[in-house]
This record gives sequence, structure tokens and C-alpha cells, in this order.
Amino acid sequence: MILLDGKLASSSVKETLKKEVEIITANNKRAPHLVAILIGNNGASETYVASKIRSCKEVGFTSTLIRFDDTVEENILLQKIIELNNNDEIDGILVQLPLPKHINETTVIQTIHPDKDVDGFHPINAGKLVQGLPTLIPATPYGVMLLFDYFNIDTKGKHAVIIGRSNIVGRPLSILLSSNLLHGNSTVTLCHSSTKNLKELCLQADIVVAAIGKPEFVTAEMVKQGAVVIDVGITRVDDATKKSGYRLKGDVKFDEVATKASAITPVPGGVGLMTIAGLLKNTLQVYKMKMIN
Ligand code: GUN
Repeated sequence: MILLDGKLASSSVKETLKKEVEIITANNKRAPHLVAILIGNNGASETYVASKIRSCKEVGFTSTLIRFDDTVEENILLQKIIELNNNDEIDGILVQLPLPKHINETTVIQTIHPDKDVDGFHPINAGKLVQGLPTLIPATPYGVMLLFDYFNIDTKGKHAVIIGRSNIVGRPLSILLSSNLLHGNSTVTLCHSSTKNLKELCLQADIVVAAIGKPEFVTAEMVKQGAVVIDVGITRVDDATKKSGYRLKGDVKFDEVATKASAITPVPGGVGLMTIAGLLKNTLQVYKMKMIN
């Protein structure tokens, strides 16, 4: 069994990015600049955003964290996004999700300029992805593809079963895996809450991707011997023995599924780290496009 170690794969991506940034800045050009917007104090979002900012520093990007109270009016947030859209010194903009209930997620996503949308959530970028046009790929599916690349996972002609149809992970990953790409060309089944025969479908899968946010949902009896298992879930569950009071659990029952899988991602230390690698690659891509034009 191969442990699909996100630390190894993301370090490799970050090393390459760091070298590129060193060349850019050695030529007296400014570094790529990512702005992250965080609204409120959601513990998980705080951790993710801190990790994104830290990773920017590691590769030599400039980063800015803009925080708003969770009572911020939608209009104030939208104005800030427009200001960032118009600032030529800023390459990537991301608004960490989820948002407080009074703010419309769709409006926020559509206000970010598609060319600066390093999350790849804007409908223009999502549409380009569907048509196989060059675009900004959502960071988590991108990270999964980078993981396949690093570990040389063959996806061609394989049956991939994805559990979860979110716009952030499941749906874009279903498009990438079914596209005519190096790590695509799979036959994809996209499962969701109304899927009837989930266990039977999973048992047919050469590649299982769990992206539903339900801890330990995928058990050994759902997985075929030799399958590649990708766990996108990261849920905080109470654990009084931990200083933080919680620990992280994936969507896959790791210990039992690992005995059947040919390759499997750990949680933490798997896809989460690759998401950041994808985000950093998108930010550099935006920067380079701007420098060309
Ligand atoms: N919340 C969970 N995943 C993501 C992500 O990839 N991007 C943003 N902006 N928010 C998230």
C-alpha cells in the first residue's frame, strides 16, 4: 500500500514555485500577491487561511489577510473585492467559505474578477473547465490531480467514483477526471445524497474519492481490493485528550480501508496540503498571465 503523502507532494510543488519566484524577484520584478479575505471567527476557516498565508511566505509570495467581523454588511465586502479587482499589484483574491448566512455566496463569488479568481469558483472559470479551456482550476481538485501526478497514479480508463457533488470539490473533480488530460480519461460516477446503490457503485471503483464531510463514512466493505482511495474530508471531532479539544477526521475509515487500498491519502497530511499547492500554482498562473499581457 502506498501512502499518498501530501506533505511530500506539496513540498515538491512548493519547491518548484519557490525557485520560480526567486528568478522573478532576481529580475527586479515584484512577487506574486495573494489576498485572502476571512469573515468571522470560524475555527476551521482560521486554520485554513493561516495555513494559506504561511505557505505564501514559504514560496516567496506577498500575501495580505483582510478580516471582517461576521456582522459585516455584504455591500462593504463587495466594495472591498471591487477595490482589490482594480488593484494591479494584486494577483489572486480568495474569500474563505463558508460565509455568514446574511451574505450571498453566489454574489461574492461573481464579484471577484474571473482573472483573479484563484479559487476557480467564478461561473466563467467553471464553464471553461467544463469545456476543457485553459482556466483557474478549483484548488482542491487541482491538488488531487497534482497528487496523482506526483505519485504517478494511472487514471486512464479507470472507473472513478466520487462521493459528493459540491462546486468546490466533487463536481469540478468529476470534470477533470473525465477530461482528456494526463491524469484524466477516467469513467466517472458522481454520487450524492440521492444515490441509491452507493455501496455497489463504490465496490466497482478503481478510484474512490470521498468528499462529503461525514467522518469515516467510507468503510472497508465499500472498497474494492487494490483501489486508490482519496479522502477529501477534514472534520473536527471532539477529543478531550487533545490540547485543542478536537482532532481531525477524514471521510474514510483509514485503518480498515488501508488494508484493502493500493494507495490512500491520510487525514491530516493528504489532500488538505495539496489544496494549498493548487492555490499557490493558481496565484503564480494569474501573475504570469498579467505579466505577459
Ligand atoms: N472553504 C473550504 N474549501 C475552500 C476553498 O477551497 N476555498 C475557499 N475560499 N473556501 C473554502
